[in-house]
Amino acid sequence: MANTVIVGAQWGDEGKGKIIDVLTDDADVVIRSQGGNNAGHTIQVKGQKFIFHLVPSGILRRGKTCVIGNGVVVDPVALVAEMDRLTGQGVRFGKNFQISETAHLVLPYHRLLDEARERAKGTNQIGTTKRGIGPAYSDKASRTGLRMIDLLDGDRFPSKLRTNIDANNRVLEAMGAQTVDYGAVLSDFQLAADRLRPHVTNTVLLLQRLMRAGKSLLFEGAQGTLLDIDHGTYPFVTSSTTTAAGACSGSGVPPHSIDRVIGVMKPYTTRVGEGPFPTEDGALGDMFHKMGREFGATTGRKRRCGWFDAVVTRFAQAISGIDLLAVTNVDGLDELDTIKVCVAYKFRGKRIDYPPADAAYLRECEPVYREFPGWRSPTGGVRDFRKLPPNARAYLNALADLTGAKLHVISVGAAREATFWR
Ligand code: GDP
Ligand code: IMO
Ligand code: MG
Repeated sequence: MANTVIVGAQWGDEGKGKIIDVLTDDADVVIRSQGGNNAGHTIQVKGQKFIFHLVPSGILRRGKTCVIGNGVVVDPVALVAEMDRLTGQGVRFGKNFQISETAHLVLPYHRLLDEARERAKGTNQIGTTKRGIGPAYSDKASRTGLRMIDLLDGDRFPSKLRTNIDANNRVLEAMGAQTVDYGAVLSDFQLAADRLRPHVTNTVLLLQRLMRAGKSLLFEGAQGTLLDIDHGTYPFVTSSTTTAAGACSGSGVPPHSIDRVIGVMKPYTTRVGEGPFPTEDGALGDMFHKMGREFGATTGRKRRCGWFDAVVTRFAQAISGIDLLAVTNVDGLDELDTIKVCVAYKFRGKRIDYPPADAAYLRECEPVYREFPGWRSPTGGVRDFRKLPPNARAYLNALADLTGAKLHVISVGAAREATFWR
């Protein structure tokens, strides 16, 4: 099988975890390359629900190698807690689970800074997951971060930690926030280091070796294109590269080794946190929330909901070179008479077909809608594209045409088997 990158084509939570789980069947190695435990990827197998924040979703399938790449920011204590929770659910962590020695650490002061900076923003909050992701990536870019390799060096880690805690406590104090206790962090992190040590390695060399042996790689994207630090709705974004390019920089795998990019999207749009969202529709959100759908996997927050925005997915297709599409949550639209799709924006009297760079301009954009007839019948039991109601098929084909990529995978339920190919 080819080396495949999975990206979210919207604002995250597109159902990437579920699609990764399905595609892992044909892959040898699953790699997380960006983000941290701000991600929440949900998979349902045989009635059991698994949520992944840092661990690659491929871990559910026996015999697959799972890698946390250098581009990920790792909270070691949260990772150990996640491994313990998954172990309780029957998942095994052996030599098949490897973490990059150059992945940066998320420390407790990052989380406190994340919270304090959000508080200081008042009504201009980003609505972060408060997992310390932004401050950890800031330290990485400022060249003051600590990495897995530091954590494992028992001689050097205490003094590096002391320096960083002292510096960050001064900032936290000035912001009127709680500070961090050096001794407590050191002991928590030493415990985590002992647990993680057998899993930490040079993952760049590991991946090169696996590629030479002809193994196929599957990159598990986190977040979504419109949350990308460069191309998203800045500043209402995350702090990493969520587009296909992030798979390479975050793993050390060269671009020419990537054979295809699969964009995951819902046939409507959701977003958690603040920021512009042209097709947002409160009534649609109320409908989903009443159905028990669209609550965040990481923070439990209600996701904001709206109509499918083809301006957004076309942009994602262009930035990441999406070849194929996986459309999840098709069953979510089963009860609607009419479904709206945004095909362009109206911005200051002009029709445009791209998201303007400034979030304030995007806020001004009004969607230009095209309406599609609904299918008003349950699709959850369908396992064959040809057996979908004709209106559902027409709708999905239109979404693919508008996005500019080919339909590949369709998902009509959270469970692994509620999936079929176009
Ligand atoms: P991710 O972050 O992209 O992996 O997506 P999340 O797991 O955060 O959110 C997707 C949600 O949709 C999860 O609750 C999944 O279990 C659920 N899901 C995925 N595909 C389908 C589907 O086709 N139908 C239904 N009903 N739920 C789905
Ligand atoms: P997955 O991988 C949806 C959003 C947050 C916030 C912004 C910045 O499950 O699709 P951060 O904590 O990263 O600094 O928050 O990004 N966000 C996500 N939204 N899905 C995610 O991940 C997200 N990860 C971050 O809600 O708006
Ligand atoms: Mg999610």
